[in-house]
Amino acid sequence: MRKAYIDSIGMYVPSNVVTNKDLESRMDTSDEWIRERSGIQERHHVDGECTTDLALKASEEALEKAGMKPEDVDHIIFSTMASDYFAPGGGPMMTRRLGIPGTPALDIRMACSGFLYGLSVSKAFIESGAYENILLITSEVQSVALDFSTAGRDTAVLFGDGAAATVIKATDADQGILTVKTHSDGRYAEDLMLRTPSTLDNPFLTHEVLDKGYGRVSMNGRTVFKHAVTKFPQVINEALEASGVAKADIKLVVPHQANLRITEAVANRLDLELHKVVFSNIHKYGNTTSASIPIALYEAMAEGKIERGDYVVVASFGAGFTWGASVIKW
Ligand code: UT7
Repeated sequence: MRKAYIDSIGMYVPSNVVTNKDLESRMDTSDEWIRERSGIQERHHVDGECTTDLALKASEEALEKAGMKPEDVDHIIFSTMASDYFAPGGGPMMTRRLGIPGTPALDIRMACSGFLYGLSVSKAFIESGAYENILLITSEVQSVALDFSTAGRDTAVLFGDGAAATVIKATDADQGILTVKTHSDGRYAEDLMLRTPSTLDNPFLTHEVLDKGYGRVSMNGRTVFKHAVTKFPQVINEALEASGVAKADIKLVVPHQANLRITEAVANRLDLELHKVVFSNIHKYGNTTSASIPIALYEAMAEGKIERGDYVVVASFGAGFTWGASVIKW
């Protein structure tokens, strides 16, 4: 049966490294607090680059690794919470950046679950026979919407900028994306959001709206934490059951890198076979929203932790709330 498999991944983070010490000079925080609560040591922030700049670098690497030219891409899926423009989205912009005008492009705004939703759509597109080569781009610039004063410290220290691009192709071989399970629950929309520009305000961008802080990411950290540690294990088990793959056969679990305490709490709630193999690289990048899972996959491959034929689980939780998990035979 025709399947969708991950052929290659490219990644890019801006060269500007922001350490916890750097943040100490901008707000009342400490390296110790940030490490203890989140496991983050440093993150990368843009310095003059925009979302599609990051996306282009990651895409070029992914295409080169796949032995493809931009013209070989027959559909773009673009996930971000911060496009170059509020409208149009980043997908059409990437056809311009890659020099492939006319290529279909779909935007996804599913926050930290953007990669999971992107896998879900890619799998359906490819298995139906509609497309052969999909470029799933996850590119995030959150630093421009963070409040770096002490008032915003609980959120600003967590996020980093970064991008990944994943080439997903059709195959008849015994490999690929076996299952994807996704969920959403808008009852918690306000617990993690970027409110403005919003149609709740008319006109939607005024000085008054911005003065209220609506142009900054806001978060109820404890509520996010509580739901994340419940939903991650639930959806991982759901995806595993649907795939029929035994837990003992899973080589690596790659959760969205939200923060180390969430990853550890999730690992503790998983059965032992899975607990042993949970991957983390949050200390280097912070939370890069929808880019975090493919960046982690990229690094896990580079470290030899994933090889062809291995069973891998990826899972996410984030704003919406949205969450999901996938089982992949690499
Ligand atoms: O993709 C999902 C993204 N979201 C997340 O991953 C967030 C999930 N939530 C969390 O990880 C945690 O809730 C946080 C790391 C955000 C916060 O940890 P917490 O243990 O829930 O701390 P808290 O919000 O209850 O704050 C404890 C104290 C407060 O001070 P007081 O009131 O006890 O004096 C905060 O004002 O820590 C203070 N605080 C900080 N102190 C130093 C909050 N942020 C900081 C900071 N530096 N950056």
